[in-house]
Amino acid sequence: MSTNELNKAQNSGATGEATRRNFCLGAIGAGMGAAALAVPVCAGAKMALYPLQQEGLSGKEYELTTLDALDETPRQFVISDNLNDAWATEANQTIGVVYLRRVGEAVEAFQSICPHAGCRIKAGKMKHPTSGEEQTLFFCPCHGDVFELNGERVNPETTKSARSMDSLETRIEDGKVFVKFQNFQLGTAEKKPV
Ligand code: FES
Repeated sequence: MSTNELNKAQNSGATGEATRRNFCLGAIGAGMGAAALAVPVCAGAKMALYPLQQEGLSGKEYELTTLDALDETPRQFVISDNLNDAWATEANQTIGVVYLRRVGEAVEAFQSICPHAGCRIKAGKMKHPTSGEEQTLFFCPCHGDVFELNGERVNPETTKSARSMDSLETRIEDGKVFVKFQNFQLGTAEKKPV
């Protein structure tokens, strides 16, 4: 099975992903500033920040879903590939997680890794820090940064992250959605691929 076929098969399990997302949202609702969540989340980040360049995977394009399967609510997709070292190949390893959302006939894609220090960003309904309205936003559980659905920081003056969420290139062909996966340097205002 090709890498793209593996990714499509893994990501077709929307129910499981939704369950995990609901769990995370529950955790956010229970204690939005809970820095205690930093440890498991950062463990996930370590996986997602695997040195792609070393594997020749940096900037590789993956077919993840179809345009029809998406709407304006962000949905997580896991990206898997085969990892090689000098001796062996580890098949079908998770190299990252991205968010996709449909905007008209286009698709927006974002890295799930927070540009501040690498925690896994969540998506879900919460009170907007400025307007107070209940709406879907991106939220980093480690230090509390909140991002709009377009990836912009809600309060750039006070957020820990020096830049917005890292967007990824997308391409749609015959209704299929392709994403160019990339990791970026953490803690910088500039978006630098690594
Ligand atoms: S790692 Fe996300 S706000 Fe610090």
